[in-house]
Amino acid sequence: MPNYLFVNFKTYEGGTGESALGLAKLLSTFYTGEVEIIPVLQALDMRIVSESVPLKLFAQHVDAVKYGSNTGKILPEALKAAGASGTILNHAENKIPNDAIKSTIARCHEAGLKVMVCAETLQRAKEIAAFSPDFIAVEPPELIGGKMSVSAARPELISDSVKAISKINPNIIVITGAGVKNAEDVSKAIALGTSGVFVASGIVCAEDKEYAVRQLLSGFPSGKDDGKMP
Ligand code: G3P
Repeated sequence: MPNYLFVNFKTYEGGTGESALGLAKLLSTFYTGEVEIIPVLQALDMRIVSESVPLKLFAQHVDAVKYGSNTGKILPEALKAAGASGTILNHAENKIPNDAIKSTIARCHEAGLKVMVCAETLQRAKEIAAFSPDFIAVEPPELIGGKMSVSAARPELISDSVKAISKINPNIIVITGAGVKNAEDVSKAIALGTSGVFVASGIVCAEDKEYAVRQLLSGFPSGKDDGKMP
């Protein structure tokens, strides 16, 4: 099973429009096939990025709607057609209730999209696991965008979540995020049983993005070289 580096572009200026395209292109230069590097984009940027970047791409949100009268919603089929492989749901900055998570996962699977649902607590991770998403990202909201990583501040949350989720559904891939900034944060997250990390400010807001990506990739078991394609 591969390890994953999900990169959330949020609505940062450095992750929007032409800058989203530039950052996704930079990320793709690091792809060796060992670590899945997945940009998590605003839906509006999906098509321009998918047309020129060979990475798998996720959106930041989608709605549980079908073709029809749903003004302003994001249709899973439209996201797929724009080049998305999947979407995240229920990010701490865009939370939705459990019934919406359940129905959106079902709609996404019908449309051929993978789903990573974010969980802010162990309890929420357990509730969400019962809906069988493809991934759960465990992210304590108080550490998002901060200097202290989840790996350093809440290691027990990571290991307890990995155990609890695999008991409910061993096929769910567990990711963690919040404050992840360096190789040690990544290697700890992997040692605690996750399959990777979900990073935003550590890459999107970094002054030297290339350096930031190289550092993070060197924390994966397969990333002991600099991770960059020749
Ligand atoms: O979606 C990942 C994100 O919430 C973590 O943000 O800035 O702490 O890496 P950051």
